[in-house]
Amino acid sequence: MNIVSSISDLRSEVARARGAGRRIAFAPTMGNLHAGHLRLIEVARQRAECVIASIYVNPLQFGPTEDFSAYPRTPEQDLQALAGAGTDAVFMPTTDEIYPRGMAAQTCVEVPGLSNVLCGAFRPGHFRGVTTVVNRLFNLVQPDVAVFGKKDYQQLLLIRLMVADLGLPIEIVGVDTVREPDGLAMSSRNNYLRPEERTLAPRLYAVLCDLRDEIRRLRRIPDKAEATGMERLQRMGLRAEHVSIVRQQDLAPATPQDRQLAVLAAAWLGRTRLIDNVEVAIDG
Ligand code: PAF
Repeated sequence: MNIVSSISDLRSEVARARGAGRRIAFAPTMGNLHAGHLRLIEVARQRAECVIASIYVNPLQFGPTEDFSAYPRTPEQDLQALAGAGTDAVFMPTTDEIYPRGMAAQTCVEVPGLSNVLCGAFRPGHFRGVTTVVNRLFNLVQPDVAVFGKKDYQQLLLIRLMVADLGLPIEIVGVDTVREPDGLAMSSRNNYLRPEERTLAPRLYAVLCDLRDEIRRLRRIPDKAEATGMERLQRMGLRAEHVSIVRQQDLAPATPQDRQLAVLAAAWLGRTRLIDNVEVAIDG
């Protein structure tokens, strides 16, 4: 597995793969890899002969009071895990390489509307930072396929929209969330949880599953479902930020006519912000 940190070395790596007629699948990450990331690599391997991962904690997607400095950085472990998973090359750029003229001067890419609702309403500028760095990484790696976890449901849709709007010839593949045995979605931020918070954390998914089951049972959205979900989370000891029942295609609030739904939620446990979601289809 080749590890490259400069754009010129990355380009040589990409040229070598292309020269050998290999398709490229790309898995962008911020490191501190867990089984969810390794599943991304597995799916990437099924889609192309050459798998390139990136590890870059992107300062542009963190707000001024967020956890950029505390974000766990474990490069040695990550490289070992990526090599074990069959990654061909890893791009580990510095911020100078990604934002050579400085972050403030960087040309940004923002998908209007959807970037500023749901999680975007609570994290101003976050999704603009995500789409900007992912677009830059896409331009550097020029993959045929890129893989993203469905845990970041809104991020996944924003990237699909960005790729469509900019006409990028990249297939975006969403990969199912990998969970701990008790249901907690895997996340690098789970490392922040104190033992007593860790025991409460799976309740976020449990509440979402209950809402999903109730929607399926009634074959409609129950009255005041979002407020009830929020109250249940609060009672269980989580500080709920939002519980939102949306339609899958554009994450707009679901109406009684919509059939393909998703329930998205974010909640705080101490200093840890958890997000999760479930999809639900109302048949008939
Ligand atoms: O999902 C993430 O880890 C990040 O948002 C991403 C896509 C690597 C961009 O920094």
